[in-house]
Amino acid sequence: MKHKVTVVGAGNVGATAAQRLAEKDLCEVVLVDIVPGVAQGKALDLTQAAPIEKHDSRITGTNGYEATAGSDIVIITAGIPRKPGMSRDDLLSTNAGIMKKVTRQVARLSPQAVIIVVSNPLDAMCHVAYESSGFPKNRVIGMAGILDSARFRAFIAMELNVSVENTHAFVLGGHGDTMVPLPRYSTVAGIPITELMPQHRIEALVERTRKGGAEIVELLNTSAYYAPASAAVEMAESILKDKKKILPCAAYLEGEYGIRDLFIGVPVKLGAGGVEQIITITLTEEEKTALNQSAAAVRELKQALKKLKY
Ligand code: LAC
Repeated sequence: MKHKVTVVGAGNVGATAAQRLAEKDLCEVVLVDIVPGVAQGKALDLTQAAPIEKHDSRITGTNGYEATAGSDIVIITAGIPRKPGMSRDDLLSTNAGIMKKVTRQVARLSPQAVIIVVSNPLDAMCHVAYESSGFPKNRVIGMAGILDSARFRAFIAMELNVSVENTHAFVLGGHGDTMVPLPRYSTVAGIPITELMPQHRIEALVERTRKGGAEIVELLNTSAYYAPASAAVEMAESILKDKKKILPCAAYLEGEYGIRDLFIGVPVKLGAGGVEQIITITLTEEEKTALNQSAAAVRELKQALKKLKY
């Protein structure tokens, strides 16, 4: 039997994620949106592309949640995106309300699902999903680190004129300006980039990675979607196929890295059970300080959530 994945939000990220899931023939896809016709229209369009793209994934569009029942994974992209000049944090109160409503429906109809949160501000939205779903921590995961690392990898490949396939990158921390790219764990064919480019170029790429989302918002007048969708689908694939890939994701920490009761980006093992392991690596003093600063920024948003009525 095919797996079932629900994608909530049929906007740019959601529709692109649905397309990638279907074209990889990974699962049946249910696309949900509150706007009448949008999820249905995009699902029908994707269904009509299937004979050409050569896959048999069923794609359904709906405004309600009944069709999502029994999903193995639910990817939540619902919420408003950023406009130029806005930070991800500016979306907090609107998106918290949406996330709470969505997660309650998801938890009711797919009590065994793994939730992948994509909506921003990412780490704070993971908290809302975790609390509203009542799911165990291994089944609520945020998509951010893969996207941020992919941006870093793309910039490394451009800089050195090498295949992106040769690159690996590690980005820890929250999905915001305080994210922590780790150059010494970022490699080309296994060689740390610290051996391959001067410090000032590494710093420039790190800075571009930190602002990678904003650079696209300025150009498009809305949020990025191809790379965010790819990142969410990589997580879904690792879970559906029980691949046990080590990927940077937002996970709930209970003391790992000296951080407690907080979702933040760390390397995790993703398999059939969701987050099967949090990988802890030794950080330098400087890296530790940067991660703690990032955690403080996420904690501030978590406190702000508490004061909001959503
Ligand atoms: C970005 C949004 C998806 O980083 O947070 O582009």
